[in-house]
Amino acid sequence: MTGSRLVMLAGVAAFALLLLAFAPGKHAAAAAQRAAAVQAAPRGVPGAVQGGVKGGVQGLVQGVVQQADPAQVAAGRSLYVTHCSSCHGFEATGTRIGPSLEHAGAASADFYLRTGRMPLNDPTEQPVRHRPAFPPDQISALVAYVASLDAGPAIPTVQPGNLADGNELFSINCAQCHNDAGAGGALGYGDIVPPLRHSSSVDVVEAARIGPKPMPVFGPQTLSDQQVNDIAAYVQYLHHPEDRGGLGLGHLGPIPEGFVGWVVGMGALLLVCRLIGTRG
Ligand code: HEC
Ligand code: HEC
Repeated sequence: MTGSRLVMLAGVAAFALLLLAFAPGKHAAAAAQRAAAVQAAPRGVPGAVQGGVKGGVQGLVQGVVQQADPAQVAAGRSLYVTHCSSCHGFEATGTRIGPSLEHAGAASADFYLRTGRMPLNDPTEQPVRHRPAFPPDQISALVAYVASLDAGPAIPTVQPGNLADGNELFSINCAQCHNDAGAGGALGYGDIVPPLRHSSSVDVVEAARIGPKPMPVFGPQTLSDQQVNDIAAYVQYLHHPEDRGGLGLGHLGPIPEGFVGWVVGMGALLLVCRLIGTRG
């Protein structure tokens, strides 16, 4: 074997090794970047942290004060009688098959109607997310009617949150049911835990505060307004986590991507060996 041929072979081998190392290496770098991004996030979210410290402001989730517009309440009342009273009772005080809505409040009515959970078809089925059954103005009217029954919780206004804190709070309070990635799962007795990929920030804060059964209620004693804002921010982040790196093979992960690198690398090596062989 001549010297130049040896140099060429060594070069090809090095090229193949580089290919092999490429995909997993990018993963490590991307993971480090991601970790850094989560750490750095607080600085990128203006107002959230400073607001809490500077003014000592608690309660960043302010309720929107419901302007009780009598015409809107009346419109809501007539929709209620048609679509809801069969289960919740003519005066919304509940029946054998549906709970009272007297203390449900705007937050609960808004959550159940906007996520299409209500009206149910069958009172024994678990309410799940559907396309809303009513247009926004009718939802507002129904919400106004339910809110007029008593002073239940108002619709929250979500403020910017801290991603790193949200990540930690989500792991502690939510992940055991919704899974680390918010993908959902199942509880005992056939209850489904929904994925959070369609949940807006308002959905997250409303769900935490009202606890759509069998999810527990996370009241202000358990999670402060800032903490639910942090969790809401983190759930939005879960919808679009930064690119995980790799060679764009549909994000198969390091092992399949490494395998493709290996096959391509070995293929190139064999091809070059053949070329050298036939020339000699
Ligand atoms: C077929 C019966 C049925 C109909 C119709 C129905 N609901 Fe319900 N609703 C239920 C049941 C049952 C629950 C309890 C669900 C649970 O806890 O899993 C419920 C729960 C709710 C809640 C949550 C109560 C709380 O304590 O926070 C709200 C709000 C609500 N319904 C509003 C409505 C509205 C508004 C309508 C009409 C547009 C409606 N529902 C129509 C059966 C019904
Ligand atoms: C014990 C299990 C459990 C825990 C803990 C839990 N959830 Fe849930 N969650 C559920 C179940 C079950 C539902 C579906 C309820 C229903 O039938 O409407 C749900 C529904 C939701 C929804 C509505 C999803 C949608 O868009 O349709 C959101 C948002 C949500 N949870 C957020 C959270 C957050 C945030 C936490 C932590 C603070 C949390 N959950 C903790 C079980 C849980």
